[in-house]
Amino acid sequence: MAYETIITEVNGKTGLIRLNRPKALNALNDQLMDELGAALGAFDSDDGIGCIVITGSEKAFAAGADIGAMAKFTYMDVFKGEYITRNWEQIRRVRKPVIAAVAGYALGGGCELAMMCDFIIAAETAKFGQPEIKLGTMPGAGGTQRLPRAVSKAKAMDLCLTARMMDAAEAERAGLVSRVVPADKLMEEALAAAATIASMSLPSVMMIKESINRAYETTLAEGVQFERRLFHSTFATEDQKEGMAAFVEKRAPAFKNQ
Ligand code: CAA
Repeated sequence: MAYETIITEVNGKTGLIRLNRPKALNALNDQLMDELGAALGAFDSDDGIGCIVITGSEKAFAAGADIGAMAKFTYMDVFKGEYITRNWEQIRRVRKPVIAAVAGYALGGGCELAMMCDFIIAAETAKFGQPEIKLGTMPGAGGTQRLPRAVSKAKAMDLCLTARMMDAAEAERAGLVSRVVPADKLMEEALAAAATIASMSLPSVMMIKESINRAYETTLAEGVQFERRLFHSTFATEDQKEGMAAFVEKRAPAFKNQ
């Protein structure tokens, strides 16, 4: 499929997706979200890919949903057509890990998109925020739900109600991002993390992702039981035999994703 608003490439076993509407600071319109969903789906079903990275430009990961495209919508437009956020949850259906590599602005839907990824690596230049309140609206793609889970209720209230931006250092302290790196090292670091993940046994990778995400959807007792069953099921894989044999024999494992 030929894309107009994103650029995709394969780097070893990593699928890289670059949001590419530079003139609009990667504002997220329906076309971009459709293309992003298609690219994610293609990488997810590609046996040669073990991890996916989504990134933007040096100036903006994404400055939010496309305000120009939304400005004239009526209630019935957005309700019936589910415009703006119609296809956003597609990202959560991806079973391989998705890393957000964020430089510059990640605002509104841009911050929400980053939070839908499995973890965020931020450049020192990154700025996160949910400024929808300044537009007379509110976050609509998970901002009021994922942000408090990531950074606490207090900070989520502060960011969503005042529209202030949080820099990379504050975002790391708050637990929103997993690491902060110099801007010129962002892609090197994100691709290295993705390559490390892609070198592991894919069944384990997918089960760990599923299990950690389950922690947000269930009770501790249910979650621990779910984890235990998945843990048991790894013993049905060839990769578990190989991984443990390799440790005992003091050699590197050769995983087959089986
Ligand atoms: N939608 C559409 N276009 C956008 C945009 C957005 N979210 N953000 C930036 N742009 C466009 C600007 O209109 C401008 O276009 P023109 O050159 O044609 O005028 C271009 O990108 C560059 O932007 P600025 O000139 O404003 O750049 P700046 O460096 O002065 O400011 C900024 C950068 C602080 C990010 C500022 O652009 C800004 O505040 N953007 C809007 C951020 C925002 O409110 N995001 C939330 C959107 S609503 C949402 O996301 C809903 C949801 O939850 C799903």
